Amino acid sequence: MAGMGDNPFKKCINPTCNLTYKINNNILVCKCGSFLDIIYQKNFSRELIQTFYQRRNHGGNIYNESGVWRFRELINFANLDTEDFEQCSKILVSLDGSEGRQSKPYKMKKVSEYSLIDNDFLLLQPEGYNPSGSFKDNGMSTAVTHAKMINMNKIICASTGNTSASAAMYAANENIKCEVFVPKGEIAPGKLGQAFQFGAQVIEIDGNFDDALAYSLKEAQELGAYTVNSINPFRIEGQKTILYRALEYLDWNPPDWIVYPGGALGNTSSCGKAIMELYDLGWIKKIPRLLVVNAEGANTFYELTNGLFGGKKLEWNIGRPDLSLIKEYYDQKDKKGIKPRTKATAIQIGKPANLIKALRSIDFTNGIVTQVSDKEMSDGMALVGLNGFDCEMASGAVPAGIRKLRKEEIIKKDDVVVGILTGKQKDPRLSIDYHLNQSNRFSKPPVAK
Ligand code: F0G
Repeated sequence: MAGMGDNPFKKCINPTCNLTYKINNNILVCKCGSFLDIIYQKNFSRELIQTFYQRRNHGGNIYNESGVWRFRELINFANLDTEDFEQCSKILVSLDGSEGRQSKPYKMKKVSEYSLIDNDFLLLQPEGYNPSGSFKDNGMSTAVTHAKMINMNKIICASTGNTSASAAMYAANENIKCEVFVPKGEIAPGKLGQAFQFGAQVIEIDGNFDDALAYSLKEAQELGAYTVNSINPFRIEGQKTILYRALEYLDWNPPDWIVYPGGALGNTSSCGKAIMELYDLGWIKKIPRLLVVNAEGANTFYELTNGLFGGKKLEWNIGRPDLSLIKEYYDQKDKKGIKPRTKATAIQIGKPANLIKALRSIDFTNGIVTQVSDKEMSDGMALVGLNGFDCEMASGAVPAGIRKLRKEEIIKKDDVVVGILTGKQKDPRLSIDYHLNQSNRFSKPPVAK
């Protein structure tokens, strides 16, 4: 039976169900419809922290060089018990060690001034410096590893552009097929270009991301293909390493806050799971608070968790969230024909697939969900650029959200804050348009001579 012995297994997150499954199959969602967690049964020694650090001197071993696989003990769903490079390379998928390799926290003076935080207390981690240009590579390397473990030769996803770029890149490198469902006309040209460049089959949906996800899940079931959206618990495992790298930089002393933009809420889910596990292991004694920042035009998580629909706050409620409230919310939006709308197309999502796991993360970390306008996100994006770092508009939600909570005095002046800049700019028109418009706060229009 799954769950016996030392082996990792999958477990339903719904406490009234609690079904478990073996690792080695294509079951990614529980029979009851709830999502699954990967559960490890080992009690890891904190001494591994030294091992993780030493691996940065990788000596040419790509699994030590990789900012994902460097932490392999904490994401060991493949149950690998070897340091042997040949053995690792039979199982672990890596783009030559490049995922997570360059992303770690940096100080950005102009952003800290704007965010009203002391320069020493604000750290921003540009996940855009991953091989496909976004944080997605963290979780895609692990999801594709699992796909290969169970001999799947076709991966499939819906995407606002970064997931599809990452999936297509790994699929090409591993010589497996890839099909991506994207909302037609609603993804950044740089992202669409990557899907083509890496040889994926692009399927354009006349609808938004939520529609594309529904199509892709149906197709995956019909074809028996392997879904690499963040409903897949193996994606969530790889994304935990975003937090590990931030913590490593801080000598594993948790910050007061960790801040992410919120879209489908995979990051929120994975960061929460990583914190829960490290806390359970006793590696961290303090629980950092999660701040999730929605775009105003795609603010499902914000509205539901802040009681702005039906007067009731949606909460984890020990694994029994009010599902009827979510249904009523979606029904009402559908009936009124209200679609998510933001220029930050990466997070233009109305029905975040990971909503329930994300509620768990907010609950465990005493987290907060806020929202910011397109204008605020653009300012945030521009400022990151003025520090010599690249990020896309959705990532601009992070400085904007921090500033907002500082003004509200929820984030305190001497709180340590880590913000995740999720992706790099793949729609240069947004930067150009921002700077062409003199009325934008940080714009520097061109001069004609
Ligand atoms: N930032 C960027 C740059 C993204 O591409 C995404 C999601 C998010 C933030 C939101 O993260 O879903 O974990 O809450 N992009 C997905 C995609 C939906 O298809 O590329 P999340």
